[in-house]
Amino acid sequence: MDILTCICMSVLMMVGDGFIVHGPPGPLVAPLGSSVVLPCYVDKPLPVDDLEVEWRRTDSETLVHLFLNGESRPEAQQEDYHDRAHFFTDQIQHGNFSLRLDNLTAEDEAEYTCKVDSQQDSGEIVVQIKHERLIVSGSDRSVSAYDGEDVTLNCSVDTHVQLEDIDISWIRTDGDILVLLFQNNETLPDAADEQYRDRVEFFTAEIPKGNFSLRLKSVRTEDKGVYMCQVFAGELSANATAVLEQLGFSSLHIAVLFFCVAAAIGAVLLLCCLIYCRSNNTDNNSTIWNLQLSLVFCPNICMFFAFILWGLTEGEC
Ligand SMILES: *[C@@H]1O[C@H](CO)[C@@H](O)[C@H](O)[C@H]1NC(C)=O
Ligand SMILES: *[C@@H]1O[C@H](CO)[C@@H](O)[C@H](O)[C@H]1NC(C)=O
Ligand SMILES: *[C@@H]1O[C@H](CO)[C@@H](O)[C@H](O)[C@H]1NC(C)=O
Ligand SMILES: *[C@@H]1O[C@H](CO)[C@@H](O)[C@H](O)[C@H]1NC(C)=O
Ligand SMILES: *[C@@H]1O[C@H](CO)[C@@H](O)[C@H](O)[C@H]1NC(C)=O
Ligand SMILES: *[C@@H]1O[C@H](CO)[C@@H](O)[C@H](O)[C@H]1NC(C)=O
Repeated sequence: MDILTCICMSVLMMVGDGFIVHGPPGPLVAPLGSSVVLPCYVDKPLPVDDLEVEWRRTDSETLVHLFLNGESRPEAQQEDYHDRAHFFTDQIQHGNFSLRLDNLTAEDEAEYTCKVDSQQDSGEIVVQIKHERLIVSGSDRSVSAYDGEDVTLNCSVDTHVQLEDIDISWIRTDGDILVLLFQNNETLPDAADEQYRDRVEFFTAEIPKGNFSLRLKSVRTEDKGVYMCQVFAGELSANATAVLEQLGFSSLHIAVLFFCVAAAIGAVLLLCCLIYCRSNNTDNNSTIWNLQLSLVFCPNICMFFAFILWGLTEGEC
């Protein structure tokens, strides 16, 4: 027997004794509280006596179900799965080791490994479970900002749906104005209404985490209103709102106002003093001279500061 024949024969023997483990084609999605069947089967029946089938959570290695020496071993199972994880006993002889997990909880969302071990061969597959959901949360309180500031309007999306199958539109509810759009795994800034274009964006790095918060730059007084984050994910849709509050005056604006008022009041007071001193004629000339100088300079200096500060507030935009 030459070497080639030898190799061929051993390959044939391996193929003959071996098996392939099959699982589902993609992640399994089921609602909370429901039962989900995790498929795992081999392409031909196996003798059960020397068979070991192990279902484990992939992350924590927790034992979900064990079949050994012809029977299930509930005593080895982690307690939480005791009444929830079952084999289809009549299917085992057909090489079907699918697992039924009852009363699905949020914590069950994970990957599970089905490992089949027989004397001849072994193999494993991984099954991913997701629970069906679309939860959108917005800002829990209203957001306020001064003219020219930047604001963030919160929108977090928790869903089983893949990012590329999600549509997000941020709209302004009064007037149905489109503020920003996310579609086919892309932000579409050109779809935005003219008054928001170039002033709005997502936090790109945060999108994979489901954070679709909106950044609105250089807020204007007319931006105040109710904004809605509308999410479509497959068959599901949900929304959340964020309120942008009445925009107040910033400290710079208040300072401008203060200097303007100070200039006006100062001018009136000085003028009154001047008239009073003149009419009394008691005071000497230097006091009157000082008052006249103040009347010329003080209000103007105040207005000068007001002007500078006003320039600063506008420069911020
Ligand atoms: C394995 O058994 C389950 C439960 O009876 C069944 O739903 C599933 O179709 C079976 N899989 C195969 C491949 O026969
Ligand atoms: C399902 O799980 C929930 C939460 O763990 C529990 O309150 C409920 O009793 C369970 N229902 C069944 C039928 O086991
Ligand atoms: C927006 O989300 C962040 C992070 O969760 C939180 O700290 C902040 O308070 C939220 N803002 C509003 C207005 O809800
Ligand atoms: C979606 O976009 C992100 C970031 O641009 C990218 O990493 C990811 O591969 C995209 N997914 C698909 C399915 O195109
Ligand atoms: C989203 O990301 C931004 C930028 O990191 C952060 O300011 C904001 O709080 C995040 N929002 C939520 C709801 O986590
Ligand atoms: C927003 O969601 C509520 C339910 O939470 C729904 O009644 C309403 O129609 C939705 N609005 C829009 C514009 O989708």
